[in-house]
Amino acid sequence: MQIVSIARPELEQALRAPERLREYCGKLEAGDILFFPETPISITSDALGFLLGHQQVGGAYHKNIAYRPLEDRITGFDAQNGPAAERLRGIMRRYSSDVVAFLREFLGPYQARWKVDYASYRPEEEQTRDLALRKRNDLLHTDAFPTRPTHGDRILRFFNNINPSRTRNWITTDTFDVLVNKMNEGKLDGGRVPLPSSLQPSSIKQTLAGLGFGRLAPSLKRSPYDEFMMRFHNYLKENSSFQENCPKQHWEFPPGSSWMVYTDMVSHAVLSGQFALEQTLIVSKDAMVRPEKSPYGVLSRMATAV
Ligand code: SIN
Ligand code: FE
Repeated sequence: MQIVSIARPELEQALRAPERLREYCGKLEAGDILFFPETPISITSDALGFLLGHQQVGGAYHKNIAYRPLEDRITGFDAQNGPAAERLRGIMRRYSSDVVAFLREFLGPYQARWKVDYASYRPEEEQTRDLALRKRNDLLHTDAFPTRPTHGDRILRFFNNINPSRTRNWITTDTFDVLVNKMNEGKLDGGRVPLPSSLQPSSIKQTLAGLGFGRLAPSLKRSPYDEFMMRFHNYLKENSSFQENCPKQHWEFPPGSSWMVYTDMVSHAVLSGQFALEQTLIVSKDAMVRPEKSPYGVLSRMATAV
């Protein structure tokens, strides 16, 4: 994996050249980070001033402030009501729709075959947070959502560092395809997560879901794919020898920049930094230009059933 830097003039050229955009999709899917030194998203100085002035304390329960675009709702903010909450909701609504509008163009080859997931505001200093191990973001991991199964669709995240003066600092190691192979060959220590025998949901779960019970328990709705991705996320975070010994790349995202990455593919951790905005898209696995690279593609080849 590598970082692909896209300066403003290159971006403008690419937006007029569908084959360039397809190349960028391919790079993302191969596990590269696309980096925009100058963010393509405009954030007004008013909005910025408001966001930087609303650092909340004690976010152990809510990891971040989330904005749910479909419901036009904020969660995790101290003041749930009142003018500050209203203002924040307006800023997040605008951010979310601006990012999605940009990605509709930039990721043109996907033809918007995605679900717009949550946006978030991350106002806390990452270096000194006190989160439960499985929620920690300073440990390398690939993303999986405990309550929102994707069934093989992809987790794509777009970030803005809105800190006025400090970089947001990440590390990455091997991509999912490499890690899962290393684990399977016993090269990662810490045991292993059993590979799914098949990515098809088991018939009992299908039957229950067909009978309408799927709504009751999120775990029943989790497919074998989601089950594996969740367990793999936990396995990586809990594997201290892997965390210590794996080869690492360091990245510093400067103030005013944006970057995007398939976080289910690229193992990542944030070591330090404060004040970021983020928008998640769940991109249909059928939209991939390199489906064989995706975690779903990799796991279906490795599935143990014959
Ligand atoms: C993460 O997705 O693990 C954290 C990324 C960040 O907040 O920079
Ligand atoms: Fe993550």
